[in-house]
Amino acid sequence: MSALYHAYRAIVVQAVCVHTVPMKLTPHDLDQLRRLIASARSITVLTGAGVSAESGIPTFRDAQTGHWARFRPEELATPEAFRRDPDLVWRWYAERRRAVLGVEPNAGHRALARLHGRVGRFSLITQNVDGLHARAGSREVIELHGSILRVRCFHSCVTYTAGAATAGTAEADAGAVAAAGELEASAVFAADSPPRCPHCGDFLRPDVVWFGENLPEAAIEAAVAASESCELFLSIGTSTVVYPAAMLPHAAADAGATVVEINPEETPFTARAHLSIRGTAATVLPAVID
Ligand code: OAD
Repeated sequence: MSALYHAYRAIVVQAVCVHTVPMKLTPHDLDQLRRLIASARSITVLTGAGVSAESGIPTFRDAQTGHWARFRPEELATPEAFRRDPDLVWRWYAERRRAVLGVEPNAGHRALARLHGRVGRFSLITQNVDGLHARAGSREVIELHGSILRVRCFHSCVTYTAGAATAGTAEADAGAVAAAGELEASAVFAADSPPRCPHCGDFLRPDVVWFGENLPEAAIEAAVAASESCELFLSIGTSTVVYPAAMLPHAAADAGATVVEINPEETPFTARAHLSIRGTAATVLPAVID
């Protein structure tokens, strides 16, 4: 496991200042990326909130809207915030879950799902909790920050997955419902405040990684291994300021991979990318994959 990972075990935001140099997307960039994709025997992709922007899900570092404009995501996405005001944090996630289930995967998600079958070895790592890659048809997605479509007990006694009753897209986790006995998944997701675990009595919480918490061990290990062993690494729609996820493009470059960034804006990683494509996920990905 990379030494970098040990430096950044719990999730943190790294303050950075990016000096933006305006750049335009050129046909030459797209040709170069097309050739890299066509010749790579192994590709690892890291996605962030930008890949879902064109589905209508705001990115984290975009201003929040309405009632939530008063809060910074980093202030709501912590265990302390939840313990301080469980209802507030529960409602924030419920609203985001409703938003996610009300939109569709975009052309970028779908292009990545098609790419999977065409490369010898393909890994898709996401920081997103929205489940849109899976809904676009991607399999074995490495979810670094969990899933907003699941709720679990603080002590992991039970897990519930948003069911058909919520939006008809995700399956109910029948095993968990049976094990929990007293709670139906639909009632858990419809609740206005966090229900209590039927086993230990502590709160149920979104099954996402909060600031200051560790990433799921298996996910980060798989992500580091896939990053350090690929020929081509694509960093798509992420600001590369939240660690440990942001170390992955560096780990890939350190291990000798060609690293390409796709993002309409410059990021702290841009200077290190072998190729930086200044375009959006839903325009660039279908153009280079199909
Ligand atoms: P951010 O909101 O930090 O960054 C989104 C990135 O997407 C920015 O660099 C944008 O320029 C870019 N972007 C915007 N629209 C795009 C488009 N259509 N196509 C491609 N790129 C686009 O989101 P993340 O980097 O994913 O963690 O944030 C990382 C983590 O910080 C999140 O997983 C979340 C957050 O706080 C937790 O909640 C634990």
